[in-house]
Amino acid sequence: MLLEVRDLHVEFRTRDGVAKAVNGVEYGVRAGETLAVLGESGSGKSVTAQAIMGILDIPPGRITSGEILFQGQDLLKLKEDERRRIRGAGMAMIFQDALSSLNPVLSVGDQLGEMFVVHRGMSRKDARAKAVELMDRVRIPAARERVTQYPHQFSGGMRQRIMIAMAMALEPSLIIADEPTTALDVTVQAQVMDLLAELQRELNMGLILITHDLGVVADVADTIAVMYAGRIVEKAPVHEIYKAPAHPYTKGLLESIPRLDQKGQDLFAIKGLPPNLMNIPPGCAFNPRCPMAQDICRTDVPPLAKVTYEGLTAERRSACHFWKETLRG
Ligand SMILES: Nc1ncnc2c1ncn2[C@@H]1O[C@H](COP(=O)(O)OP(=O)(O)OP(=O)(O)O)[C@@H](O)[C@H]1O
Ligand code: SF4
Ligand SMILES: [Mg+2]
Repeated sequence: MLLEVRDLHVEFRTRDGVAKAVNGVEYGVRAGETLAVLGESGSGKSVTAQAIMGILDIPPGRITSGEILFQGQDLLKLKEDERRRIRGAGMAMIFQDALSSLNPVLSVGDQLGEMFVVHRGMSRKDARAKAVELMDRVRIPAARERVTQYPHQFSGGMRQRIMIAMAMALEPSLIIADEPTTALDVTVQAQVMDLLAELQRELNMGLILITHDLGVVADVADTIAVMYAGRIVEKAPVHEIYKAPAHPYTKGLLESIPRLDQKGQDLFAIKGLPPNLMNIPPGCAFNPRCPMAQDICRTDVPPLAKVTYEGLTAERRSACHFWKETLRG
């Protein structure tokens, strides 16, 4: 495993109380693998990513327990300067909003070049040449001319390509992309996603792709992890999960894929709202919304158990007392 997150817990202490944002996340990514992380707003997808990158907002955030193993080393035991070295060279993150992530008063060439000056000790001139090379690589037309331009002079799609170039600059082994195409229009989304997938394959990187878009997931992911109230509730190879979800929440998510013949209908098939993170229901956190809930669901937290059936070759897990029934239903 390139990255392994074990039993990670993160909470936020605010004036109103303690929000338990991440409650025992377990997931891993191998080199060359794409793990898609799905789940409703507030389920802890970004907070988990921030904990991995070491950019969590502390305070109010706090990692209360867990391990984050990157190439076998627990990141939570490292000093900040060691963390900083890993950020960029070992792992990098791509955010939804390039405009607020890029520096508005520096040319894109200077920002890309900075990576090579700081991490590789290159001269400004060599770093500039590297910046042009990277812009070519993410297919920004006329890179040599545009390298002196500022972020606002690029379109949304081109800015997102610059973000990808920044993330790829030092050829990290892991990329975390947090809804990298959400702010773009549909055709540009597909192009940016294709580019990201292509570079990931070329460099054999691990990719954690946080997204709401189940269409994107089906095209590029190998594995899906579904999050609910700060836990992974289901993890499976992408083709298996689409065929037969083993958790009622995943089932609801899949039934929410908008279909052209159902225009105007409710897009989300699961009734109700995610829980208040300051007051997560006992037992299975999904129980108030679950059509299959029984008494045990209101008292016992379901473990992320192994799902098995004939013909299944990869590992599959579900945190549901009734995964067998869900699978059959
Ligand atoms: N800086 C913060 N201060 C206080 N609470 C926070 C902070 N960041 C996150 N949280 C809490 O953690 C919860 C999970 O946030 P997170 O950003 O991980 O959700 P998400 O799954 O990425 O949702 P979305 O799909 O909307 O991006 C939030 O609902 C909030 O309660
Ligand atoms: S454990 Fe119970 S409440 Fe939770 S998803 Fe399974 S059936 Fe539904
Ligand atoms: Mg998020």
